[in-house]
Parts: sequence; C-alpha cells; structure tokens
Amino acid sequence: MALRDKIADRTAKIGVVGLGYVGLPLAVEFGRSGYTVYGIDVDAGRVEKLRHGTSYVPDVPDHEVGGLVQQNRLMPTTDYTVLREIDAVSICVPTPLRKTRDPDIQYIADATEKIRECIHAQMLVILESTTYPGTTDEILLTEFGSSGLRVGKDFFLAFSPERIDPGNPTFHTRNTPKIIGGVTPECTALARLLYENVVERVISVSSTRSAEMVKLLENTFRAVNIGLVNEIAIICDKLGIDVWEVIDAAASKPFGFMPFYPGPGLGGHCIPIDPLYLSWKLKLFNYNARFIELASEVNAHMPEYVVTKIARALNRVRKAVNGSRILVLGVAYKRNIDDVRESPALDIIRLLEQEGAEVEYSDPFVPQLRLDHTNRSSRPITKERLREYDCVVVVTDHGDFDYDLVAAESKLVVDCRNAVRTKGPNIVKL
Ligand SMILES: NC(=O)c1ccc[n+]([C@@H]2O[C@H](COP(=O)([O-])OP(=O)(O)OC[C@H]3O[C@@H](n4cnc5c(N)ncnc54)[C@H](O)[C@@H]3O)[C@@H](O)[C@H]2O)c1
Repeated sequence: MALRDKIADRTAKIGVVGLGYVGLPLAVEFGRSGYTVYGIDVDAGRVEKLRHGTSYVPDVPDHEVGGLVQQNRLMPTTDYTVLREIDAVSICVPTPLRKTRDPDIQYIADATEKIRECIHAQMLVILESTTYPGTTDEILLTEFGSSGLRVGKDFFLAFSPERIDPGNPTFHTRNTPKIIGGVTPECTALARLLYENVVERVISVSSTRSAEMVKLLENTFRAVNIGLVNEIAIICDKLGIDVWEVIDAAASKPFGFMPFYPGPGLGGHCIPIDPLYLSWKLKLFNYNARFIELASEVNAHMPEYVVTKIARALNRVRKAVNGSRILVLGVAYKRNIDDVRESPALDIIRLLEQEGAEVEYSDPFVPQLRLDHTNRSSRPITKERLREYDCVVVVTDHGDFDYDLVAAESKLVVDCRNAVRTKGPNIVKL
C-alpha cells in the first residue's frame, strides 16, 4: 500500500524519537488518533517508566500512557531498529546551547545518523526540534541523500516546529495549529496529511527553511518583547512609577498593543535559547542580529537586577544581604510547571548566596532541587515559617501559593511577578 494511503487510513506505523516535553505528548496524540506509535528514547529509565504506564511529563496523565501501552498503540523502546518497519517518524530531540552559547545540534546529528541506518523506501521523516534555518536541508537531507534514495520520490522530508506550551490549560498538541514545510511539494503534502489526522489545523509554507524560521520568529518575538518590558520595568523603577499599573492600563487599547510582563529573567528550553540559534546563523553571513543580542543582554541581567532590588529592600529595614534568611518562592522557570532548566531562580539563589545570604526555597512542583552539586528540598509555607525569613522573594507565581498569607506574615516581600495583590510597606514589586 502506498504511504499516502497508509497515512490516510491510519495503518501507517509512526515513530517519535525523543520522548520529552514535546515528544511524549505528540506520541500520545498520534496514539489517540488511531495510529500505532513507536516511541524511541536513549534514556532507558524513561522508556521503562512509560512501559509501566508512568508519565514523567506533567501535561500527560499516567492513564493516557498506560491505556495506549496496554492496547499496544504506544511502544516505548531504546531500539532504533524498529524504524525499519516504520512509515513516518518525528524527531523531537533537545537543541540546547554549548557552554560558548553556540547551538549544540549533536542530538539532531545523532538521531539523523541512527535514522539513516534504518531509512527505507516510502518513509517520511519530520524534524520538530527548534533549530536554525537550514538544518533540515544541510544535515538531514545531506545524510539521507547519501543512502541513494531520492527525496520527494523514495523518501520524504519536512520540518514542522513544535509549539507546545507546557502547563497551558487551554492550548495543547491537538488544538495548536501546526506549520509544515517540506523539501519538495510531495514531502509537504504527505506531512500535512499525517498531521491533519492529529491536530485541528495545519498550515503549509513553501520550504523547510521557512518553517524553521517561523518558530524562530515566534520565540524571538517573545524574547524581544520581554526584553523591552524588562527595560521598561527598570525605567519605571527609576521614575518611581508602578510598571504593572502602566501595562494593565496600556493593555486596554484594543489594537496595536499586546501586553508582555516583566519578570526575574528568562528560563526554559526555548525563549532564552532559540533566538541565539538565529543570531549564530546570521554571524555566518557577517550580520549581527542586534535586537536578539540586546534583548538577550537585558533579559540575562534580570537576576542581578532582582538581587539589587532585594539588597535595597533589606537595606531599608537596616539589614544586609549577608546573614539574611531568604525564601525563594518558585524555582521552576514559569508558573504551574516543574521545569527548572535555565530558570532565573537558580541564578538568583546563587547570587544571594555569594553575598552571604542563607537561602531556602519553596516550590510544590519541584520537591527536590540539585544546584551546584548540592541537593535541596522544598520548604512548606506556614504562617510561622514565613515569619522566620528576613525576606520572601516571589520568583515564580505558581497558582498554589497563598499570596495573601505571604503578604500578611512575611517581614518583607520582593515580588517579581505582581502575584501579591495586597499593598503594604512590606511589599516591594519589580
Ligand atoms: N519544552 C518546550 O516547551 C518546547 C516547546 C517547543 C519546542 N521545543 C523544542 O523541542 C525539542 C525537544 O525539547 P523537549 O523540551 O521535549 O526536550 P526534553 O529534554 O524534555 O526531551 C528530549 C528527549 O530526547 C531524548 N533524546 C536525546 N537524544 C536522543 C537521541 N539521539 N535519540 C532518541 N532520544 C534522544 C532525551 O532522553 C529526552 O527524553 C527542542 O528542540 C526544544 O527546543 C520545546
């Protein structure tokens, strides 16, 4: 049966490579849509958990994984050779930065090499990992092309950026529109056909490079606007103006304005990293992506700015950072999720400790935290405990925190998220 027909009647076998925040929800969505899915991950521990029906991604409940595994609709494995039997595979491996802040595409290169060993006639490969424009053509097409198979005829290759927003109660894999750009029109058509059976809306663009650029535009847009509003927060502070009030009032304009909010800095696997993939690529063209560099600089400086705010607030009550007991509320990089990758909370804790503060944290989503080779545990918040700290810093505005209690019982609160709605002499806002 032709690949097109297998995709259309859902008898196509699907592979998902990399079962993390992106790959696991996608694999589950393929399974729920009636496809048989092989989930491939190099982490044997993760694969074992999934085989036992245990999810490690908060947006994917155990019962969904368990149900699909029991019905043999989701087969987690570390064995790439299953790809020999697979009709279409989506790649969702990490794309971090190196220590030098350059793209680290080693995970994509590894996955590509392993897929190349199994690539066969009538196979569709879709890259989902966020990366610089040109990756699909320069790395995947070059590698697969060396197999002797012809793209658009024998095998099919496309890029489709993942747009998942962990912890978002409204938008998830199925109802977030998907962008597709194939190497040839037939590649785009087949990838489109597959995703139309899984997500509500699919939009095609003319090339893999366009599809790669769409994702970078989206994330650069966020990084630059957050950089702008962080600078506005610093400006408002100097002028003695409440930035939160200004943003709320500006947001009443029904056109030409979109509110972004200041915060303690960027975190996660996307916004602090993805724009740097683009600026890195542009350096090869001798072009300096100025907005990206500037936003990155402003955003990266925010943890230091927060620590200065804390020092000033303590100073007002005749205390030094050195020797103060400080509680950081929220260490995940954003509200209601458990992900601490690149979280600004980690920098804030480090900076405070360098100045001699005794820092503890509370985060219902992160019971244990390993930071610079030390293990820490989340502290529960009680009336009595709050009174013990010299300063409580709201870094991440999880919905579970009782902000009224925090405001009422803490000696001093530095609120980086406008989470504490009550006003008082002990409340300092970013
Ligand atoms: N997390 C997000 O919110 C988000 C949103 C949109 C896009 N993205 C992008 O999606 C991609 C994946 O991100 P993530 O957050 O899911 O990462 P993750 O770290 O949560 O998961 C990646 C998984 O890939 C596995 N892996 C690594 N190398 C592998 C290999 N060679 N073969 C098979 N498995 C391998 C890891 O063990 C891990 O389970 C990245 O490019 C990221 O930028 C992430």
